[in-house]
Amino acid sequence: MSIKWNKMLVTGHPEIDLEHKEMIEGAQVIQSAIKKKDFPAILTSLGSFEDEMKEHFRSEEDLMRAEEIDLLDAHAQLHDKLLQGFILLKDTFIENQSLTFLKKEFKAFMIAMTKHIMNFDIPVFNQIQERAVPLE
Ligand SMILES: [Fe+2]
Ligand SMILES: [Fe+2]
Repeated sequence: MSIKWNKMLVTGHPEIDLEHKEMIEGAQVIQSAIKKKDFPAILTSLGSFEDEMKEHFRSEEDLMRAEEIDLLDAHAQLHDKLLQGFILLKDTFIENQSLTFLKKEFKAFMIAMTKHIMNFDIPVFNQIQERAVPLE
């Protein structure tokens, strides 16, 4: 079963929502390459996903910095943990070439990523978005 974009992942911040959607699409590309057992496509899609994730984390942290969000450092540490976890998963797969490993671990990774969005991104970007609405 592949991961899908859903209402529970909406932060209300258009730029962040678009980037989250793009990451989920990237995850779907990885999952379909795993299904096809297409090793070159798996490696390419893992690489693009990593780049996309780095870019996304940077833009979230920049936005949080601009809005002077207190929990920026703690949030950035969570990003770093996710990124390190993904890199370990990718490097282990490159070494063991096991599709069973990748399928299981990537699914677990995406669960951690969606939990991050729901538990940590949504509260922050809801707040930022509310500030952007002019008060009448
Ligand atoms: Fe995010
Ligand atoms: Fe985040």
